[in-house]
Amino acid sequence: MPKRDRWSSDEEEGDNDGLAQGRQPSSDDPLPPDASSPPSSPRPPEAAAAVAIEPPTPGLRLHNPLLHGCRSVYDSYERLSHLDEGTYGVVWKARDNSTGEIVALKQIKFDDPELTREGFPISALREIGVLLSLSHECVVTVREMVVGKSHDKVYMVMEFMEMDLQAAMTRGRGGGGMTTTTTTGSAAAGSTPFAQSEVKFMMHQILSAMSHVHDRWFVHRDVKTSNILVHRTGRIALCDFGLARKYEVPHRNMTQMVVTLWYRSPELLFGESMYGPEIDMWSVGCIFGELLIKDAIMKGTGELDQIQKIFQLLGTPTETNWPEFSSLPNAGTFKWKGRDRSELRRRFLVNSSFSVTGGQSYLDGAGFDLLSRLLTLNPRGRISAEDALGHKYFKDGVKMQAPDFFT
Ligand SMILES: Nc1ncnc2c1ncn2[C@@H]1O[C@H](COP(=O)(O)OP(=O)(O)O)[C@@H](O)[C@H]1O
Ligand SMILES: [Mg+2]
Repeated sequence: MPKRDRWSSDEEEGDNDGLAQGRQPSSDDPLPPDASSPPSSPRPPEAAAAVAIEPPTPGLRLHNPLLHGCRSVYDSYERLSHLDEGTYGVVWKARDNSTGEIVALKQIKFDDPELTREGFPISALREIGVLLSLSHECVVTVREMVVGKSHDKVYMVMEFMEMDLQAAMTRGRGGGGMTTTTTTGSAAAGSTPFAQSEVKFMMHQILSAMSHVHDRWFVHRDVKTSNILVHRTGRIALCDFGLARKYEVPHRNMTQMVVTLWYRSPELLFGESMYGPEIDMWSVGCIFGELLIKDAIMKGTGELDQIQKIFQLLGTPTETNWPEFSSLPNAGTFKWKGRDRSELRRRFLVNSSFSVTGGQSYLDGAGFDLLSRLLTLNPRGRISAEDALGHKYFKDGVKMQAPDFFT
């Protein structure tokens, strides 16, 4: 088959309906108008004003300066297979024609008129801009942009990663492949729990990525297991920077319509709009718990349910642990029974000598301390990525070891 034919199906294959497979159910809770949002992080319209890259020159819409000099996708890459589809991009596995190297191509979707009103989807501009200014082994690498035959065929060429962490967690792994569920949590069907050493390794990598991103004054705003990629070697890398944005200290006003519901922090759920990297650290805490039980730890069906799940796990805010809580926009909107007890210790098993039990990974005492510092209701008390990397969890106890996802 001629090479060109591999790409001639761009039209049908590239422009699917745009609904992400496996995204979480929609939020229907009767919330104040500004607080309601779909559970999967929406790209906020006001984001258009905040991109670090110049918008295309009026009248030159088909010639975005970013794209000058881009190679043709047909000449440069052979498309091999469809990998995944998110809300804003379709991802393909492809081979570099000149080097034979396997890469991932993220085809930018142009099917949302809201996002393309400036001539180019704003979330894609933001993602490219952010990724080009980051460089870390735990952040996915972008090699170049390539273009197809029309202005709406634009691809981001990335290093190829085997799968995302959400998919990796559902895979059966070596060691007998037992399938168990427990009263405290459930391991994904067909998979064994991670060893303490593996959880520690993944947390270290995620925190290293987070620290790099936050050091460069970006907040990711959609940290979750499907936005973390797994390399064949066990290395993991953060991806999907379409919602990332520069933050300032003191924090400035930004939309609270960010972060996929299950990973969304309590302050965002209560309408906080002056936020920064703390919101990512909450998501990292949710991921830490998820790595231990191989299942998302708080699966709310809507914003109200999400808030209830957070309070059930960690107790309700008080004047002592979160003095600023009562001034949040939606603090007076909900009524709940005060609950000062945290269920965290009951839900996550703590033991220094075992690594896994009945479908769940054990944590040592230091690991539990880090988990509770990440899942801290008050954003001011939440640990930063840099401090988390210096936590005793990474100095003492079992040594880190890359997980073997592929045997
Ligand atoms: N470099 C890559 N290598 C392999 N798979 C990838 C790569 N980048 C993304 N993917 C897969 O495609 C999915 C969607 O990509 P993502 O960048 O998150 O797009 P979206 O903004 O649409 O969510 C990811 O969840 C992941 O499964
Ligand atoms: Mg994504």
